[in-house]
Amino acid sequence: MPSTSAVPTQLRQFLLDCAARLQVLGDDPKALEAAEALTQAVADSAARDCPATTVPCLSSIHQASDTALSRQVIEMSPSLNWIPSHRLTDNGETAALMRADAMLDLGGVIAGLLYVGPGETYPEHEHEPQELYMTLSGLASWRHGGNTDYEDIGPDRCFYNKPFDRHGVRAGKEPMLALYVLWDFANAGLPSSASRSS
Ligand SMILES: [Fe+2]
Repeated sequence: MPSTSAVPTQLRQFLLDCAARLQVLGDDPKALEAAEALTQAVADSAARDCPATTVPCLSSIHQASDTALSRQVIEMSPSLNWIPSHRLTDNGETAALMRADAMLDLGGVIAGLLYVGPGETYPEHEHEPQELYMTLSGLASWRHGGNTDYEDIGPDRCFYNKPFDRHGVRAGKEPMLALYVLWDFANAGLPSSASRSS
């Protein structure tokens, strides 16, 4: 478990590593946009006073080990600010969010992690800001990108939801871990504090 003072540095490096991976994966210009926005936001980000918290579903996070990036998350996990999702009433029993923008001041970028426990579902939802996901671990079934059907997507992929695209995910036998990035709110307006997450 990293020391408290090392956490912001470790989280910044993780987010920069995610942005670099997005630039490699990005066959969608929106992935490159998200990567650039995230890189710029992280570069000068100040640490926020944010406690480490956990939720019950993270008891299985050691299984989310498919990629180097997800293994970084496992290592940092005890020091991160994991919270229940505002879209569920499960008290963190089935899914969790980790708001990187609560731990680092990322300016106009909202970024973090979505974790869904084995066999669990993160409910379909929609919102005005665009959102890019990069999967880090687990084969899961996603609704995304304006589609009505679900698609099986493994780790190390990225996909884009334009404003108001309905999206959700069902984890498979392994937990699902993904990075989310919302950026460029010039036309959408900043989401309220209650919904500043995936
Ligand atoms: Fe979302």
